[in-house]
Amino acid sequence: EKGGHEYFMLKEIDEQPTALADTLRGHFAGGRVVLDEQRLSDQDLRDVDKVFVVACGSAYHSGLVAKYAIEHWTRLPVEVELASEFRYRDPVLDRDTLVVAVSQSGETADTLEAVRHAREQKARVLAVCNTNGAQIPRESDAVLYTHAGPEIGVASTKAFLAQIAANYLVGLALAQARGTKYPDEVAREFHELAAMPEAVRTVLGTTARVQALGRELADAKAVLFLGRHVGYPVALEGALKLKELAYMHAEGFAAGELKHGPIALIEPGLPVVVVMPSPKGRAVLHSKLVSNISEIQARGARTIVIAEEGDETVRPFADELIEVPAVPTLLQPLVSTVPLQVLAAEIARSRGYDVDKPRNLAKSVTVE
Ligand code: F6R
Repeated sequence: EKGGHEYFMLKEIDEQPTALADTLRGHFAGGRVVLDEQRLSDQDLRDVDKVFVVACGSAYHSGLVAKYAIEHWTRLPVEVELASEFRYRDPVLDRDTLVVAVSQSGETADTLEAVRHAREQKARVLAVCNTNGAQIPRESDAVLYTHAGPEIGVASTKAFLAQIAANYLVGLALAQARGTKYPDEVAREFHELAAMPEAVRTVLGTTARVQALGRELADAKAVLFLGRHVGYPVALEGALKLKELAYMHAEGFAAGELKHGPIALIEPGLPVVVVMPSPKGRAVLHSKLVSNISEIQARGARTIVIAEEGDETVRPFADELIEVPAVPTLLQPLVSTVPLQVLAAEIARSRGYDVDKPRNLAKSVTVE
C-alpha cells in the first residue's frame, strides 16, 4: 500500500502530479472554467465583493498563495485568515462576501465553526475539501473537491498542492463571472495550470540532491526560510513541514522583513532556505531577493536557494542551489514547495523519526 515507499508521506509526495491532474480534470469545458456543483450561480459569483479564505495549517498557506492570484485576476479584495482567529473576532461579512473554507479532512473544528459563523452572517460559503461528504462541505453552500486521494501521512503534501490548484479554479471562475479576464485569458491560465503536473514530475525527478542536503542538515539547530510574494507562503509551509516532522526550530519570513528583526538571527553556519522568484517574471522581486541573499551570506549563513533553472544571477550567492523548472510566477509554489517537503522528510528520517506520525499531532483536528 505504500507502493514500495518507506513512508506514506514519501508516496504522497510522489503522487502530487496525479493529485493535481485529478483535481483539475473536468473543470474546463466548453471554453469555460466550471466548478463542481453549481450551487453558486454565475450571478452569485458576480455579486461577490469580497473574499475570505479561512483555514488552518497548510490549508491556510494554500489560501495565502491563492490571495495573490485571486486579487490579480478578479480585482476583489481577498483576506486570508486562520479559522481560529476568524471565528472569534467579528469579521465584516454579508451576502456578497464569499468565504472559501479550505480543509483536506473537512472535519477541522475551527474551520467548521468559521463556516457556521459565516453562514449565520449570510455570507456564501464555498468549501474546498478533499474528503467526500465531510462535515465542512455538508454545511457549505457549495463545494469544490480536491482529488488528491486519501492522505495518510499526517503532514499534508499532495492535498496542499491540490488545494492551491482548487483555490486557483475558484479565482478563475470568479474572474470569468465578473469579466475581469477575457475568456481566452481564463483559458490560457487554466492551460498553464494544467501543465503543472508535468512540471512537478520534473521536480520529483531531481530530489536526490535535496535528500543528500537533508542528511547534511540533520544536526542543524534551526533553519530559516525566506520568500517574497507567492514565495512567502512557500517559506511558511517549508518551515511548518520542518517543525512538525523533524521537531526542529524553523521559521518562515517575508524577505522584506529581514531588516525589521529576523536578520539578527543570522549567524555563521545557520541554514537559510530562500525561495527565489523567476528572473523573467517580476524582475524587481528577483533583484530584491538577490540582495537579501547577499546580505545573509555576508553574515555567514549557509544559503540554500530554490531557483528557476538557468537563473545565473543567483548562483554566486547560493551555497546550495536547488533548481526547479520555469513556470509562471503565480504557479511557482506548486514546484518550489516540493523540494521543501522532501527536505523536511529527509531531515526527519535522518533524525530517526516516524515521518508519517509526528509526535503530538493528529491527521484531523476535530477538537480546538
Ligand atoms: C500540516 C498539516 C496541518 C493541516 C491542518 C488543516 O502538514 O497537515 O497543518 O493542514 O491541520 O487540516 P485540514 O486541511 O484537514 O483542515
